Amino acid sequence: MDAPPATLPPAAPYDCGTMLLHWLHAVLILGLIGLGLYMAGLPKGEARSAAIGLHKSFGVLAFALVAVRLAWRLRHPPPADARLTAAEHRLAAAGHRLLYALLVLVPLAGYLSSSFTRYPMRVFGVVLPKAGREDEALNAFFNATHGLLAWTLAALIAAHLGAVALHALQGKPVLARMLPGRQARG
Ligand code: HEM
Ligand code: HEM
Repeated sequence: MDAPPATLPPAAPYDCGTMLLHWLHAVLILGLIGLGLYMAGLPKGEARSAAIGLHKSFGVLAFALVAVRLAWRLRHPPPADARLTAAEHRLAAAGHRLLYALLVLVPLAGYLSSSFTRYPMRVFGVVLPKAGREDEALNAFFNATHGLLAWTLAALIAAHLGAVALHALQGKPVLARMLPGRQARG
């Protein structure tokens, strides 16, 4: 009898729009986490203010992108992957839902935190409305919430990468589903 193949054939890939949005969002989020980490270590001054300004602009962009992504997702559900067990499907779906929830909540908490400072909400030079006026206690609360949620998101992204690597080790590579130029097979 033939031995089973070490690697099962790939399942149908995601559509091009989902792939484009996934990779744009991934670069933006990893960049924002890196910038957040860098900012936190800077002393008060011009460099810190400039870094925070840049972080706010790209953070609001990430919020707009998750709205586009969720609207796209409603019309483009993920293609089924017959290689995964029902339990693996459930776990992946739960992980992805949690990722989406944090991708909404992290920038929202950042926006709320910045709303309760005396600084204007400038996004790429354009002043946006704020959700409130200067309030130290609310600023501190949403700032701490933003930090906590952002680090939870970073941990979940690490688990996400771990799951992609684990599937590859199990001979069921899922990365090809998120890469352009792959043919639907299996
Ligand atoms: C998904 C988007 C975002 C991610 C992943 C993100 C990530 C982070 C991270 C990792 C930190 C450092 C936390 C720490 O010090 O422990 C941070 C700080 C901060 N973020 Fe965000 N952020 C995002 C969106 C936003 C938005 C939309 C705003 C405001 C409009 C914002 C405003 C801030 C501010 C004011 C700080 C604190 C700066 C300081 O006082 O050191 N962030 N962010
Ligand atoms: C940078 C390395 C990354 C790799 C290699 C990667 C890989 C993948 C792969 C292969 C899938 C499809 C899994 C499947 O259903 O078969 C996926 C889905 C997903 N990824 Fe990533 N990812 C990365 C980073 C990120 C980041 C930083 C985020 C956060 C913005 C993210 C959010 C998501 C979400 C929400 C889905 C679910 C898509 C859906 O079904 O709607 N990924 N990722």
